[in-house]
Amino acid sequence: MKIGYIQSSPTFGKKAQNFKQIENLLGKSKADLIVLPELFATGYTFISKKEAESLAETTKGETAEFLMRIAEITGAVIVGGFVEEDSNQIYNSSLIVSSSEVLGTYRKLHLYFKEKLWFSPGNKHLKTYQVKEAKVGIMICFDWIFPETARLLAVLGADIIAHPANLVMPFCQKAMIIRCLENSIYAITANRIGEEKRGDSHFHFTGRSQITSCNGDVLSSAPKDKFYIDLVEIDVNQARDKNLNKYNNVLKDRRTEFYSLE
Ligand code: ACM
Repeated sequence: MKIGYIQSSPTFGKKAQNFKQIENLLGKSKADLIVLPELFATGYTFISKKEAESLAETTKGETAEFLMRIAEITGAVIVGGFVEEDSNQIYNSSLIVSSSEVLGTYRKLHLYFKEKLWFSPGNKHLKTYQVKEAKVGIMICFDWIFPETARLLAVLGADIIAHPANLVMPFCQKAMIIRCLENSIYAITANRIGEEKRGDSHFHFTGRSQITSCNGDVLSSAPKDKFYIDLVEIDVNQARDKNLNKYNNVLKDRRTEFYSLE
């Protein structure tokens, strides 16, 4: 199975320009699963809830349509971030689409910093989607620091975590090695580059998008400051073998009966 990511640098609020940037980076690439960064069409650093609302869309909006179009061109299922509007709330979400339909959205469970001022926290349970022979789960950026997110996706049977990101702390790429190892699962962290200075916030995004294998090997690592696309071939079956050795299995050896407070 061929999986990959795009590392882009959105210009705040310029959706059409940001779509074009993704299309140019994709060129004639073909794959089975491609992950784009968190909020790839809008940019990240909102200055008010009103501004975030003004860039929000439903699952029938122009971002969903754009993703379905690139799904058609690449032959891949596409995962990418957007501001989701639903029932008078907005969420920091990711769409997962095929060329013919929106398969679903994931709403970021763990909001970072001022995201808490604009977005409602995710209100849907984690789930997996069938993409070719793989089960794919989604988490967004800061979810990485809560190991429960990746663990639950693994328990749900995910083989691959699609992980759109706009990382600003330097630790995630290293942490994903552990997330993948402790769950025997693949992950595609699609980060952005560049900086945004808006209101009193100034973020430098860390690039270094990464594909991490289920044994903790880094299969792809992007530069910290360049646009990038990479696609790698993986064997999904390796994520189904949760044995570390003859005696240890990363899921079956859990002592869940001792994981609650007395
Ligand atoms: C982040 O969660 N975008 C830092």
